[in-house]
Amino acid sequence: MIELRLQLNGRDERVAIEPAETLLDVLRGRLRLTGTKESCREGECGACTVLIDGQPVASCLYAAQAAAGRRVETVEGLAAGGELAPLQRRLIEAAAVQCGYCTPGMLMTLTALLREQPEPTAAQVREALAGNVCRCTGYAQIVEAVAGSVLPAGPCGRAAP
Ligand code: FES
Ligand code: FES
Repeated sequence: MIELRLQLNGRDERVAIEPAETLLDVLRGRLRLTGTKESCREGECGACTVLIDGQPVASCLYAAQAAAGRRVETVEGLAAGGELAPLQRRLIEAAAVQCGYCTPGMLMTLTALLREQPEPTAAQVREALAGNVCRCTGYAQIVEAVAGSVLPAGPCGRAAP
């Protein structure tokens, strides 16, 4: 076993890990942060997305050791003081959550997008979510929750009919 030190959701964290463990397994299995979901384990679905130094990463393919000294953010870190983050509320209000399995990964990817682009277009949201699979919603409500419209902007910046 080796000791991994990282900054996790704003706090210094130490955890004993096996050298070959993935970050996903350390988060879920050792730190009991089960908000980050496991699905394909092949980097294809995005369910396991977390932020490392602000960038979305598939934690199922990320060696936990590589997170040493880095800033890791999971879905558990989004709500503060018992209050959901605005993005979380927007997804709920837009009915963009059905089974919810993809939602933690979506939230992390979208959190990174909104930090860089606070008012993204529908196309930018769809591009950002290219690596996040949702089998329930058809994506429309998710895009609408973030971009305000699922439709591409027409002339004058208004949503096309
Ligand atoms: S479980 Fe990591 S990308 Fe699917
Ligand atoms: S809400 Fe079910 S997979 Fe996205």
